[in-house]
Amino acid sequence: MDINVPLDPSTHQILDETRIRAISETLAGLQDARVILGSHQSRPGKDDFTNLEPHAAALAQYCSQNVEFVEDVLGPHARQKIAKVEPGHVLVLDNLRFCAEENVDDKPEKLLKTHFVRQLRPLFDLNINDAFAAAHRSQPSIVGLTEALPSAAGRLMERELKAVSALLVEPRRPCVYVLGGSKVEDKIPVIEHILTRDKADKILLGGVPAKLFLKAMDKKIPADDEKEMAGLQTHIKNAKSLWMKYKDKIEVPVDLAYGDTRGKRTDRGIDIPLKESALDIGAKTVEKYSKVVEGAATTVANGPLGVFERDGFDLGTKQVLEAMAKSNGYTVIGGGHLVGLASILGIDERFKHVSTAGGAMLSLLSGQSLPGVEALVRAAERMRDEKPD
Ligand code: 3PG
Ligand code: MG
Repeated sequence: MDINVPLDPSTHQILDETRIRAISETLAGLQDARVILGSHQSRPGKDDFTNLEPHAAALAQYCSQNVEFVEDVLGPHARQKIAKVEPGHVLVLDNLRFCAEENVDDKPEKLLKTHFVRQLRPLFDLNINDAFAAAHRSQPSIVGLTEALPSAAGRLMERELKAVSALLVEPRRPCVYVLGGSKVEDKIPVIEHILTRDKADKILLGGVPAKLFLKAMDKKIPADDEKEMAGLQTHIKNAKSLWMKYKDKIEVPVDLAYGDTRGKRTDRGIDIPLKESALDIGAKTVEKYSKVVEGAATTVANGPLGVFERDGFDLGTKQVLEAMAKSNGYTVIGGGHLVGLASILGIDERFKHVSTAGGAMLSLLSGQSLPGVEALVRAAERMRDEKPD
């Protein structure tokens, strides 16, 4: 599973339980089994790289099994505990990335030989991969265990794959993508893949991707944003060629919002930028984007449209999410920040699909195959071959 959740950096209190709640369906189907759960939490060196004790406590609310936590992954203590788990009980192992090998992506045949897989494999009969949000990682728990054991996809994995893959088959038209956030390297391949395959009618841009396209279109952008763009030359080049080909489909903001000296919001047209970095799409853009979303039969959103954590700069992200929630179309949201905000606003139930994934969803939408899913397909083929006629 992937219950890598947002944590308060100082107290390590869980800020959003969406990913923990999402695996309850799989657990409900494993009432009689002896269940051992594994997940990573963040990465070495980060503030939220910590143990899974709070996760295990939170999980207990979402399943009927008795949940226990062990402060170990594959040492003698964990192995003893694993051996003693009773049917109908759940044991949560500690952060899998406390094991060095779990922090390195490698080929399946290499992962099969890791200490991680060799230690754990003999203790299990079946491996269920429900970690859709981490399926783009080729790591021992995701790929190695799936190669080593009879394996199956969990319910969440199944639901996510169906919902996200459907967007690449025959989305209901008009189909609109709303792309924001900070990682442009994830978003450009999505724009390219869906537009070259004619799977979207409009792309509405916010956050850093919007600034990148404004730059690619030779518009003036705030001096502070220019600095950020300096390191993104290759992406700017790609954005430019996408813009030349798909001018009628890619929408950039018509205005942007800035903080004045006291941090209060001011909106300005894109022709008259301030020096300081823009913090949100402007009010006119919000109105324009909301109308497009309201008229869409399919809307997919990933990444916030502005710095929504700052007072007054959540307008763009909030209003566009609200417009999606109101629409009768097929709506999909993904990415930790956006999903977290939808749940804070209490509107998360009004989307047709709330993905627990950010990067994995974007990888799928960019036409890349997910190593975790490829391993499951190989496992299914193995099991089919081994079945007697
Ligand atoms: C995520 O939050 O994106 C997933 O849990 C994957 O985490 P990672 O980017 O640290 O591999
Ligand atoms: Mg993440």
